[in-house]
Amino acid sequence: MKERDMAYVPASNRYETMIYNKCGNSGLKLPAISLGLWHNFGHDTPHKTKQDICRKAFDLGITHFDLANNYGPPAGSAEEAFGEILRTDFAGYRDELIISSKAGYPMWPGPYGEWGSKKYLTASCDQSLKRMGIDYVDIFYSHRYDPDTPLEETMGALDSIVRAGKALYVGISSYNSERTKQAVAILKDLGTPCLIHQPSYNMLNRWIETDGLKETLKEEGVGSIAFTPLAQGMLTSKYLNGIPENSRATQGKTLKESFLTQEVISNVKSLNEIAKGRDQTLAQMAIAWVLRDGGITTALIGASKPSQVEDCAGAINNLDFTSEELKEIDKYAKSEAINLWARSSDA
Ligand SMILES: NC(=O)c1ccc[n+]([C@@H]2O[C@H](COP(=O)([O-])OP(=O)(O)OC[C@H]3O[C@@H](n4cnc5c(N)ncnc54)[C@H](OP(=O)(O)O)[C@@H]3O)[C@@H](O)[C@H]2O)c1
Repeated sequence: MKERDMAYVPASNRYETMIYNKCGNSGLKLPAISLGLWHNFGHDTPHKTKQDICRKAFDLGITHFDLANNYGPPAGSAEEAFGEILRTDFAGYRDELIISSKAGYPMWPGPYGEWGSKKYLTASCDQSLKRMGIDYVDIFYSHRYDPDTPLEETMGALDSIVRAGKALYVGISSYNSERTKQAVAILKDLGTPCLIHQPSYNMLNRWIETDGLKETLKEEGVGSIAFTPLAQGMLTSKYLNGIPENSRATQGKTLKESFLTQEVISNVKSLNEIAKGRDQTLAQMAIAWVLRDGGITTALIGASKPSQVEDCAGAINNLDFTSEELKEIDKYAKSEAINLWARSSDA
């Protein structure tokens, strides 16, 4: 083990500023801001960067780290990197962490390597635990609804994973309102309540409002973790004057340059002005907006460097909006064609 790795001692004041919200009707509290390892945790990023991002998060009271079987590249490598960080940095702190993983998207070849069968979910959970070197995850998700597998089977697999001691809680991701109601009812009957739903949600992607999902989660007492609250970086000051080097939009991956139309940038510029008036960065306002009126339990950000985590965590310093501010934001916060997960929620 390198000397640097051994030297990490978490900040002693790490629980002094972060806000922890109750996750639906459960007894679990999640930090208002959580960290996801979808991008920047594969082989294309130096390990030190990954380590520094996770350390910064934990130092700021971010106790929840979100993974999935396929995060990388290559698929699986983000879980391996996080497993390494658990060993070198967070050893002794497992009980202070909420670690989640998911299965649903393509992971290995053949008919058992994706979607929602019991065969796939069970094997994938076992593989994730092995890659991270842990006995259980705190939350295990069905990553997407599978139209070809009975929902009873997918939810039954989640229930059996909990009963086998491999997960404490279960969740679903990108299920629409109707499917969510069905999944929640099945899980309730099985005795393993649905803890949380993970939908995409931000000022440029408001589908959970029009679909009714946001209301459904409230009614059902299910918590929520909004992913891509910054629209993959579009809701920061980063793209206001062009596309900077090394930004996600240059990587040819999930943030397509075509998303950054003149109209979108013009709206983002107006949102940036509103954020300035609130004495916060646009990233901070975007996170605060997602969390407004307690409708969402936690905002699930990504980061390519520790300073971004710090900036985002600062959102908790101003979470309140006046009704005038919200009205003004609504003028520019229009759903754009950037929801890469619409196919799953349309199923
Ligand atoms: N369930 C699902 O199907 C699903 C799908 C997608 C994501 N997720 C989860 O959601 C997590 C977050 O997704 P995301 O990474 O797209 O979220 P995001 O927070 O919307 O975007 C993160 C990106 O924004 C930029 N950024 C972050 N903070 C910044 C700041 N303060 N100032 C300027 N730029 C900033 C960085 O981009 P640069 O690289 O350009 O610096 C960063 O990589 C994932 O890691 C994953 O856990 C789940």
